[in-house]
Amino acid sequence: MADARILDGKALAASLRATLAAQVADLKAKHGITPGIAVLLVGEDPASQVYVRSKGKAAAEVGFYPREVKLPASASQAEVLAAVDEFNNESAIHGFLVQLPLPTQVDPQRVIDAVDPAKDADGFHVVNTGLVAMGRGGVVPATPLGCMALIKHARADIAGLEAVVIGRSNTVGKPTAQLLLRENCTVTVAHSRSKDLAAIVRRADIVVAAVGKAEMVRGSWIKPGAIVIDVGINRVADGKLVGDVAFDEAVKVAGAITPVPGGVGPMTIACLLQNTFVLCCKAHGVSL
Ligand code: GUN
Repeated sequence: MADARILDGKALAASLRATLAAQVADLKAKHGITPGIAVLLVGEDPASQVYVRSKGKAAAEVGFYPREVKLPASASQAEVLAAVDEFNNESAIHGFLVQLPLPTQVDPQRVIDAVDPAKDADGFHVVNTGLVAMGRGGVVPATPLGCMALIKHARADIAGLEAVVIGRSNTVGKPTAQLLLRENCTVTVAHSRSKDLAAIVRRADIVVAAVGKAEMVRGSWIKPGAIVIDVGINRVADGKLVGDVAFDEAVKVAGAITPVPGGVGPMTIACLLQNTFVLCCKAHGVSL
């Protein structure tokens, strides 16, 4: 069998950003509005610094007003909440996020609860989580949104297919499962306590791996022709980045597969910008 089609998230994200840049230019020209996005970074986690830099760069490229606030790793809960409140009240900011993970003295749930749901670019606030779960709108978290775009890029009609999501996080696994269900897939959510994961994955026409374990999903688990979306970004001993899927094995069996890096990562950033653009339009009563 020929190798799988590589789902180029870098290229798909670039085309999403190009569309967004045109929409932003239009919003500026017709309404004099510039979408503003802010990121709060607490501490010096190297991976977080990389993400935050990429987000800021992408935001500026599509014509957003990007803002970045940094707090030291020693910041208190109250200081973080005060920074969130500042973004909530700043009219030039239409969407923002607090980069996770947070230092241990800061409770992430309390911080997310403090974000104005109307400015929740990540879609992590319980109001947005609830709306999404009910299929009543709300902000869809960026990574699941990016995963769905990649899946739909591989195959437009996925109704009736068997989808297996590995990982049950609130940020990726659960919302991705809900979006797949909305697309009429038969959805299984597997996790660290699932028995015989290999057998579960073998049933899947669509696999979304979001566990954070380097190359845990083996090629022998993949159903021939399946769509494989790898959300993992794991740095291994030699400094290389690998996904949750053993790519070199899976590419020989799958029908389509995302690489790491260059798959889901760039899509997450593009979708975050898209979320913020939508929030901006809503805030100003501009129809899309
Ligand atoms: N850290 C890793 N991924 C994410 C994300 O999507 N949002 C936030 N806020 N932090 C993250």
